[in-house]
Amino acid sequence: MSDSKQVAILISGGGSNMMTLVDSMTGDHPARPCLVLSNNADAGGLKKAAAAGIATAVVDHRPFKGDRQAFEAELAKPILDSGADIVCLAGFMRVLTAGFVSQFQGRMLNIHPSLLPKYTGLHTHARALAAGDTEHGCSVHEVTAVLDDGPLLGQARVPILSDDTPETLAARVLKQEHILYPAVLRRFTAGDRNPVLLD
Ligand code: GRF
Repeated sequence: MSDSKQVAILISGGGSNMMTLVDSMTGDHPARPCLVLSNNADAGGLKKAAAAGIATAVVDHRPFKGDRQAFEAELAKPILDSGADIVCLAGFMRVLTAGFVSQFQGRMLNIHPSLLPKYTGLHTHARALAAGDTEHGCSVHEVTAVLDDGPLLGQARVPILSDDTPETLAARVLKQEHILYPAVLRRFTAGDRNPVLLD
């Protein structure tokens, strides 16, 4: 499909969310993956993406220590070169500045493992357990300059069980991430920003 929207996916780790997005973009889906980009050359997702025939790139953040803008200038290059219409953050573990975000305003999405606005940042599963919550989940949102903020595009809920550990809870949430993110991307690509709500 020559008029498909092009999607760049940014990862830092295993890339399981990235692969569910990639696997979803077939057939009549209005988008196709054009790039998988990582700040970590050892990210397991890079090999999976390459095996799926997708262009990959690495921009290591470490040589830019203390100069986030210089890192982001390099990070933006392969995205812009790829012709991406939409940028999906999928386990990308670097905080992005307002300057970078503004280049992709309204077309950059992120998945976060909590029911936002609860538990922005790290250790979301442990924090939900420590708070005594009875439910937890994941959210997909448009990226703005504020960390884990921005208009919600979807949420999926899971119950918290009495014997849950952060690990068992994370695994239950991750299963829902793999359903939610492709569903949101498909809807978003079609121009529909109504949140996808899954129970
Ligand atoms: C996911 O839980 C995502 O929500 C979080 O980091 C994890 C990434 O996992 N931000 P993967 O790399 O997609 O397997």
